[in-house]
Amino acid sequence: MELNIEINLTSQSCIDQVNFDDLGFGKYFTDHLFVAEYQNKTWNKPRIISFDNLSLHPALSALHYGQSIFEGMKAFKYADGGAVLFRPEKNWERINMSARRLCMPEIPKDIFIEGLKIFVDIERNWIPSKEGEALYLRPLLFATDGFLGVKPSESYMFLIMASPVSKYYSKPIKILAQKQYVRAVRGGVGAVKAAGNYAGSLLATQEAKKQGYDQILWLDAIHLSLVEESGTMNLFFVIDNEIYTAPATQNGTILMGVTRDSVITLLKSWGYTVHETSLSMQDISDAGKANKLQEVFGTGTAASIAPVSAIGFEDAEIIPQYHEGYGKLGQKLYENLVGIQRGTVLDTMGWIVRVPEYAYS
Ligand code: COI
Repeated sequence: MELNIEINLTSQSCIDQVNFDDLGFGKYFTDHLFVAEYQNKTWNKPRIISFDNLSLHPALSALHYGQSIFEGMKAFKYADGGAVLFRPEKNWERINMSARRLCMPEIPKDIFIEGLKIFVDIERNWIPSKEGEALYLRPLLFATDGFLGVKPSESYMFLIMASPVSKYYSKPIKILAQKQYVRAVRGGVGAVKAAGNYAGSLLATQEAKKQGYDQILWLDAIHLSLVEESGTMNLFFVIDNEIYTAPATQNGTILMGVTRDSVITLLKSWGYTVHETSLSMQDISDAGKANKLQEVFGTGTAASIAPVSAIGFEDAEIIPQYHEGYGKLGQKLYENLVGIQRGTVLDTMGWIVRVPEYAYS
């Protein structure tokens, strides 16, 4: 262990209170919390403490002005019984991209990566083992100045918490394309994982749910016609045996998903062409009418690969050929991705990072 860290393990685990047969998503938390604080332009020595409430200043700038960013990652129980992380450097790169966009300090690699490994090692008993389950990891960076002027905070707190989870969606989802609300604008913060992006999505999602949909399909803010992403996921379309997904760039409106990148990489390694291009709702609707829309699926850390069974658009529904579960490609991707993460499919990409067993004194 190279990271200089202070570890105070709890004397009383609460793992017995968890119903591992009904984990759901994000309702249980493990025994500990990883904490690192930034003050006077320096990261202080990180610590691992018992999971507990925080005491925060009422004028906390994260609460008032939204300087708050996060990551979503998973630790998996590997086939040999060990604990592994999936592409953690991608999340480290992305949280620092989010940090730069919101004028927050970047997190040093050893604090993020070593911190995760030590934290997951301590919580390794909490990693559930059934297919579709994982220990969801939530790195979170937020501004802690108690000050009401609008400016970048000078102090920050970085936390990592963990929650044993099962599948985010238990069945194929229905998504609604609507023109009243947008998620992101060019030059905005849609490409990064800013907490406020999620707050801004709630009303549209609530209204979609009232109409029988699970999530929103977000359209671009300029033409209100180009497909961006869905809920908390990137979207993929298989049309006439060609694969399409919206282009993700640092200044764009699409979140640069780690699962998105992994899916594109796997598809290319299998010889498929992936078009990172913007499709319009008209394209999707035409493909549906011509019976050429074979599969639609979302990708994300929480959701993994989630099949879409219907797209609501202008009082009609577009139904992909495969709508009762995974389509052929979605199934192959899910099996390979989850297989790599769980050690039942060979990791030829070098995506798996083992969590060492450290000795704590
Ligand atoms: C993730 O996939 O990790 C996400 O960020 C989705 C989360 C907001 C539930």
